[in-house]
Amino acid sequence: MERKKYYITTPIYYPSGNWHIGHCYTTVICDALKRFHQMLGEDVFFLTGTDEHGQKVEKEAAKRGITPLEFIDPLVAELKDMWKLLDISYDRFIRTTDGDHVKCVQKIYQKLYDSGDIYKSEYSGYYCTPCESMWTEAQLKDGKCPDCGREVTLQKEESYFFRLSKYAPRILKLYEENPEFLQPKSRVNEMVNNFLKAGLQDLCVSRTTVKWGVPLPFDEKHCAYVWIDALSNYISALGYLSDDDSLYKKYWPADLHMVGKEIVRFHAIIWPAILMALGEPVPKQIYGHGWLLIGGEKLSKSKQDAVKKDLTDPYELVKRYGADAVRYFLLREIPFGSDGEYTNEKLLSRINADLANDLGNLVSRTTAMICQYFGGKLPARGREEGTDCELLQTAKGLFEKVKSAMDRLNAPDALCEIFALVARANKYIDETTPWILAKDESKRARLGAVLYNLAEVCRIAAVLLKPFLTQAPALILKSFSADENQGFESLAFGNLKEGSAVLKLPPIFPRIDVKKELAEVEKLVSDRQKKEKKEEKKPVENSEKLPEIAIDDFFKVELKVGEVIACEKVEKSNKLLHETVRIGNETRSIVSGIAKYYTPEEMVGKKVVVVTNLKPAKLCGVLSEGMLLCAESADGTLALLTPESAVESGAKVG
Ligand code: MSP
Repeated sequence: MERKKYYITTPIYYPSGNWHIGHCYTTVICDALKRFHQMLGEDVFFLTGTDEHGQKVEKEAAKRGITPLEFIDPLVAELKDMWKLLDISYDRFIRTTDGDHVKCVQKIYQKLYDSGDIYKSEYSGYYCTPCESMWTEAQLKDGKCPDCGREVTLQKEESYFFRLSKYAPRILKLYEENPEFLQPKSRVNEMVNNFLKAGLQDLCVSRTTVKWGVPLPFDEKHCAYVWIDALSNYISALGYLSDDDSLYKKYWPADLHMVGKEIVRFHAIIWPAILMALGEPVPKQIYGHGWLLIGGEKLSKSKQDAVKKDLTDPYELVKRYGADAVRYFLLREIPFGSDGEYTNEKLLSRINADLANDLGNLVSRTTAMICQYFGGKLPARGREEGTDCELLQTAKGLFEKVKSAMDRLNAPDALCEIFALVARANKYIDETTPWILAKDESKRARLGAVLYNLAEVCRIAAVLLKPFLTQAPALILKSFSADENQGFESLAFGNLKEGSAVLKLPPIFPRIDVKKELAEVEKLVSDRQKKEKKEEKKPVENSEKLPEIAIDDFFKVELKVGEVIACEKVEKSNKLLHETVRIGNETRSIVSGIAKYYTPEEMVGKKVVVVTNLKPAKLCGVLSEGMLLCAESADGTLALLTPESAVESGAKVG
């Protein structure tokens, strides 16, 4: 009989670096689902990777004077290291710069162009570079990106469009006819009310101003819009439209795209529309999970800096507490589908309460008693007595409960069920008091039966924990001389053999002194932040007359002509203006202290001279990626330096 297949994906990650525990959430859940389905005997393919094209990477690389790949490669290596540390067992790590992916994206564009679903027009709208998303003026929130609240830039260019509007009715129908397609249910309401109800606009799917992307096969001046490029990874990874599409035939449609809630819109609207246009089946399910919060907001690099005491660096967390503890926390703590607050204190209390006290204690007490009373040989099962019944019933019905939770993708519920058995077994020790039975020779058979039952519960819990924890289950099974590779088929009670060797297991999760640990962690975080601050460049002091410099020193300053394409006042400042400046192919956000001398309206359209290799800084919370040159008169008034005759933006000065 052919095995059931299961194709599961995470989103592909932006190579932003600054990896934090929030980034691990989606992938750890997918890994647990992969392992669970594999243990069900299914043929699983688990895909993850990186989303490497687009304006953001282009800009960051340019800022550092290196190529995009030189910028990305180390970050991808870091991400892979992080997955290794967390025992993530993906089947392919796709990079959108992989040759087969690029070819596939081009074929997808060609197919959509040939069928008339992609057409040429002009794009005018607002672009949020960090989110790589486009907005109309009406969609902006206080003039900023409605998703992340950051600045957007006005962009106008010749573009290709995808006929997204045509697919709105089919997408609505898809939601109606397949309630499982988008989960949890609340996400359907968001999509319908915020986007689909008002009708969809055609989507701009190409850029001429971004060079770091997949060139369109029918017009090489244009690069593919990063989200179409990125979403295509789910099928390019399987060889869609390639000479060998056997994986595609086998695994598509995906069983599950697991994504964070902020990117549901791309997965539940744009992605099915693209697939419909290609004539391909849509994925069976998209699940939009919640976020790890810190101080009530989505955990992100900037939040990490603001909330000083919590350690969110996965490498350090795994180093301190182990992969199992970090995985367990992520899978158990956040109510599935909702947001959940992250603190080190919560992490430590999960480790201490569930892993050290409940699971760790059960295993070490059981193995220690078998070693002490039976010389390390598993006693016989014996007859079932009154108090055994409840424990055995809990163990026997557990698989169904865990499976039902995992069918709902609900790892916290599944773990809750397993730990209910662990708690029941600890209570069983208190009820049966093996240390008292041990004193009475006539109770030896009963003592053996009690310890056998406990050993079996440890084994069953270990097998059921295998999808979630990757190290402790093997240790537990080994200590009962049980096969580490056993799966759900072995869950029947009574599987352990009488007389098999039992080894005393030291605490698998040592108890942590919370107060001491929190103090240590707080110090570590604050030391790291101090170090980062020190590394930031100190501002150069003004002085009346500066010492002479060599010509080489002058050439260290990169000066270029730019054009101001948007400008606004900086809130909470009467000195600062925030300009959006186009310099050749790139657009920069620049803050200048010229509000007293120029209005924002006067600035738009001006050609200016920009210092383009200044280290970016934040002024009143606004990012400044350069400096406009001004002349200062003796009376303190300022005049912008502009080219004397027409020069194109991007021209070098010097
Ligand atoms: N590149 C896009 C996805 C393209 S998929 C075709 C992207 N990348 S990302 O790096 O920003 O996010 C990757 C995953 O990490 C997303 O599922 C996102 O929701 C998740 N998380 C990032 N921060 C998170 C939290 N604070 N909490 C939970 N998950 C979060 O989006």
